[in-house]
Formats: sequence, C-alpha cells, structure tokens
Amino acid sequence: MNGSAPTPLLTTRGLGKTFGGLAALVGLDLDLYPGEILGLIGPNGAGKTTTFNLIAGALPPDAGTIELAGELIAGRPPHEIARRGIIRTFQHNMPFAGMSVTDNILVGAHTSMQTGLVSLVFNPGRARREEDAARARARELAAFVGLSEYIDGEVGALSFGQGRLLEVARALASEPRAILLDEPAAGLTASECDRISEIIRGIAGRGIAVLLIEHDMRFLMPLAKRVVVLNFGRKIADGPPAEIRDNPAVIEAYLGDVSGTVGAGKEDPHASA
Ligand SMILES: Nc1ncnc2c1ncn2[C@@H]1O[C@H](COP(=O)(O)OP(=O)(O)O)[C@@H](O)[C@H]1O
Ligand SMILES: [Mg+2]
Repeated sequence: MNGSAPTPLLTTRGLGKTFGGLAALVGLDLDLYPGEILGLIGPNGAGKTTTFNLIAGALPPDAGTIELAGELIAGRPPHEIARRGIIRTFQHNMPFAGMSVTDNILVGAHTSMQTGLVSLVFNPGRARREEDAARARARELAAFVGLSEYIDGEVGALSFGQGRLLEVARALASEPRAILLDEPAAGLTASECDRISEIIRGIAGRGIAVLLIEHDMRFLMPLAKRVVVLNFGRKIADGPPAEIRDNPAVIEAYLGDVSGTVGAGKEDPHASA
C-alpha cells in the first residue's frame, strides 16, 4: 500500500431514486473496498434492493454518481456493468430449471468469455479451449460452494438452500470484482447459513468486494466488517457492527420492524435456530 489509504473499488455519491412521489433512495454515499464484506441493512422498504438495482444497472438513478475503479457507470446497461465486474444475486431467484448444475454455472461464465459468434466460426479452436476452461472453472466453483457431487445432475434435484449456493457459484463464474448478495441466507437452514457464511468469507478472501443485504442480524454481525444502515431511503449509520448495534438511531429505526432485531447479533449465531 506504500502507506497510502486503500482506494475504494466502488463509490456512490448522492445516489438517489424516486418512484412516483416516493423517495426510495436519497443522497446515498457509499464506499466499497476490495476484499471487504460490507453489510447493507434497514427495515423493509428502506431502499436496500433499490440500491442494488441502481448499482447493477437494472434501474437508472435520478441523482448522483456511481464509480467503479474510477469510471462512471451509473445508467449503463446491466450487461455492461456485469462485464466490468459487478455481479448481483436476487432476493428471490431460482436456478434455470431443466439445466444441469454445470450449465447453470456456465451461464454466469458467459459474461466474461471473449468468444463471440465471429471467433466461433473463424477460430473454433480458441472457442473450444475457452469452453473447456470454463467447464473446468465451473467444476472448481461447484466445489467451492460444496456442490461437487451434484455437478452433472439437474438443478431440479437440488434443495432450496443448494439452489442459493448454486446462484453464488454462477455469480462467481463471471470473475467479478464486486458481488452484491441480496439476502443470501433467507430461507436457509442453520447449517446452510454456516456454510454460506464461510463461502462469503472465502469470496472476500479472494479479494472480491462483497456488498451484502441481510435481514438476519445474527448472520450478518459476525460476518461484516462494516455495516451501512438505511431507513426510509436515507443512510442513518455507517460503521463497525458493534457500533451499529448500539446506535440509538438504528435501534429506533428497527423498533417498528418485526422482521429483524439489531441487538440479536450479541448472541450465539444459531443458538435458538
Ligand atoms: N420498481 C419499483 N416501483 C415502485 N416502487 C418501488 C420499486 N422498487 C422499490 N419501490 C419502493 O421503494 C421503496 C424501497 O424499496 P426496496 O429498495 O425494495 O426496499 P428494501 O429492499 O430495503 O426492502 C419501497 O417503498 C418500495 O415499495
Ligand atoms: Mg429488498
């Protein structure tokens, strides 16, 4: 680092989105660093998924900037943002039915493959080598998320939790610089939560920046190095989990929200699960 401060990979400044008369996101300043796990929390309707939609290009922002490694990306189409290295998973997502586990992962690899139709016709050798390399990488990713034994099977044979792991493997197949995970632990069993926690640590350990929306504080607090809290579209806190937990504005924001409790992070992750 030569003593200089680390540079964020992704930066938003004054990011905003309005739906009709509703301000879903207002003036969001966010910095995401390589290899960091940054939690994004807030009561239902706080603007978390909207933040993902803006960063990933699913929706154009009404205000503000989004910079990826110094380049302005706000308003660019999703495939271009994916190609530049930002991949997101969805809050409610199912694998592509009728396809094998490998092929599901290969769908993700497609964004980073160089081979287009032209080289497929004029340079079939190169296309074949890329395909082989992508398949080898798909097997590696299946192993990384613990799905090796299902690799040649149909996705229909996977449990709900395994489907979520597959989704993470597919996102990684594009070799992203940043991954945005929308409630990856929702609906998982306690042991699957532990597994996905380890996987998320492993992703960050590879230097990939992780932005993580999570409702379950018991899951998030031990995992995230830093947490940003949204309430009614505005950032109300940004700091280490221990500070967030004791922040009066955060506690206040969650008082009316039955779906999550901030203080729960103090307990053993799955003591009562
Ligand atoms: N595509 C959309 N059209 C209209 N309103 C939306 C849309 N997406 C989100 N909203 C509204 O914006 C607010 C923030 O939603 P969202 O970002 O999904 O919240 P969160 O993910 O934090 O629960 C909510 O009031 C929601 O109803
Ligand atoms: Mg949401």
